[in-house]
Amino acid sequence: MLRDPSTKYRAFPQVPLVNRQWPARTLSQPPIWCSVDLRDGNQALAVPMNVSQKLELFDALVRCGFKEIEIGFPSASNTEFAFNRRLIDDGRIPDHVTIQCLVQAREDLIERTFESLVGAKNVIVHLYNSVSPAQRRVVFGLEKPEIIKLAVRGATWVQQRVAALEAGGTRVTLQYSPESFSLTELEFSREISEAVMDVWQPTPERKMILNLPDTVQIAGPNVYADQIEWMVTHLKNRESLVISLHTHNDRGTGTAATELGLMAGADRVEGTLFGNGERTGNLDIVNVAMNLYMQGIDPRLDFSDLNALREVYERCTGMSVPPRQPYAGELVFTAFSGSHQDAIKKGLNEWEKGGRSHWDVPYLTIDPADLGREYREVIRVNSQSGKGGVAYLLESEFGIELPKELQREFGPLANDEVDRLGREVSAAELQAMFWKEYIDRTSPCELHHFHVDGVDGVFRCRASVLMEGKEVKIEGDGNGPIAAFVTALVHHARVPAFTVATFKQQSLSAGTEASALAFIQIKTNDERHIWGAGVDTNIELASIKAVISAVNRAATRPTSPAGAPPPTTAPLPT
Ligand code: KIV
Ligand code: ZN
Repeated sequence: MLRDPSTKYRAFPQVPLVNRQWPARTLSQPPIWCSVDLRDGNQALAVPMNVSQKLELFDALVRCGFKEIEIGFPSASNTEFAFNRRLIDDGRIPDHVTIQCLVQAREDLIERTFESLVGAKNVIVHLYNSVSPAQRRVVFGLEKPEIIKLAVRGATWVQQRVAALEAGGTRVTLQYSPESFSLTELEFSREISEAVMDVWQPTPERKMILNLPDTVQIAGPNVYADQIEWMVTHLKNRESLVISLHTHNDRGTGTAATELGLMAGADRVEGTLFGNGERTGNLDIVNVAMNLYMQGIDPRLDFSDLNALREVYERCTGMSVPPRQPYAGELVFTAFSGSHQDAIKKGLNEWEKGGRSHWDVPYLTIDPADLGREYREVIRVNSQSGKGGVAYLLESEFGIELPKELQREFGPLANDEVDRLGREVSAAELQAMFWKEYIDRTSPCELHHFHVDGVDGVFRCRASVLMEGKEVKIEGDGNGPIAAFVTALVHHARVPAFTVATFKQQSLSAGTEASALAFIQIKTNDERHIWGAGVDTNIELASIKAVISAVNRAATRPTSPAGAPPPTTAPLPT
């Protein structure tokens, strides 16, 4: 890179806009959408789509609700021409959908384009030519007046063919794009656009579309908005025009430029699904539509099964949606960080309880379910995760509701294990870790037999346990089965004295092998608080097993200062 980039590059000039209006406006309704996936998106593929891939993507676009779809450049290749004919001849275009075709200002190409459209119900014929200083200089070698002549000639050839097509029952709308508009002197863009308008003679009843492309982005989105506002306020006969935006994404600001362009007065937006298109892509229409949606505005496009749409898109184009792509990426509703997981879990719980009118869940701008994505996707666990994510997965996948304090104990243990594995772990792996740490503990003590009788609130337990492999018969009284068992264990099995500090139980959902899960926290005589857990079809036995689990864990865990679990891990990152 250059030490002084100003020796090679320069800032794009500001637009001399007096009384600029757009910054104070807010969007309150969706624009007219036009998908250019099958033309601009297709043009940018190393291997363009074949007819059947284009048909599949066309059907998906119709299902999303696009009413205007640029289906191709029919004069450019036989495949493109054949695709038009296939759509029309097989009656695959719903009556409410208008197909659009792009063409350059050449008579033979215009003729072929009109041929490809015979028999369609609604069409947009889209004429374009490049107008920027660099294009005029290096591509055409023409001065401004010749470039205007070229556009006017093209517009005339188009105009001459409209009546014949309409005579066959086709409704024709005309569209003109001064390509590279955003790099062009505004006065010249206005002049050439008005010259085309003079040929086509649009009226408020029969408007033409004036598409103002940000073909290559070299300035900020505010500059594009200024250019749009300048055009909207300087063009003659504005009420006979549909002003359309067509942004690319060279500076990563395709979405911003479109949104500001709409605030500046545009009516229509062209773009592609997930931003496929030349270089850094076209505008990602899903992004702008969902940005409106999350502001409470119905975008009138339906992305409620975004995963399915993404699959069709990837299959047809051979492209893949990056994992961080807004709304659609695999990871956008996933939190790895512990503090994020915790906040999301609390926010989702609050939302599910009801009582809040509007979505306000930390770190989730919209409800993933609105896009057909699942809450399950929201939280995944890796070494960056904390107790929140672990608890969420155990609860959402297996219905295991860990008590808060047990979450604090098990979270770091799971985290250490995940850190050791050095990869993300599944909910099933977490459950296995929990079972290994709590449920499957049989050493030094294992329950062999348990019986309890209660008379007048006094319970007598008779049990036998294996202590380091040797059977020991034990007996004890208490005010409940657990208390009786604790007495028996401490008096006859030489287990160091302890008391039960917390007891919780839950049932596990049908279909699992065991039906009851008990959690018990004991306090040892050296003041440690240790959790145990037990599972059984019998709730009483589940709690007895939980006592044994805690006793076994106390026997194997090093002594630590009062109340605090032994340190197992570094503090979790936020
Ligand atoms: O990016 C562009 O300028 C285009 C035009 C043909 C509209 O795709
Ligand atoms: Zn384009």
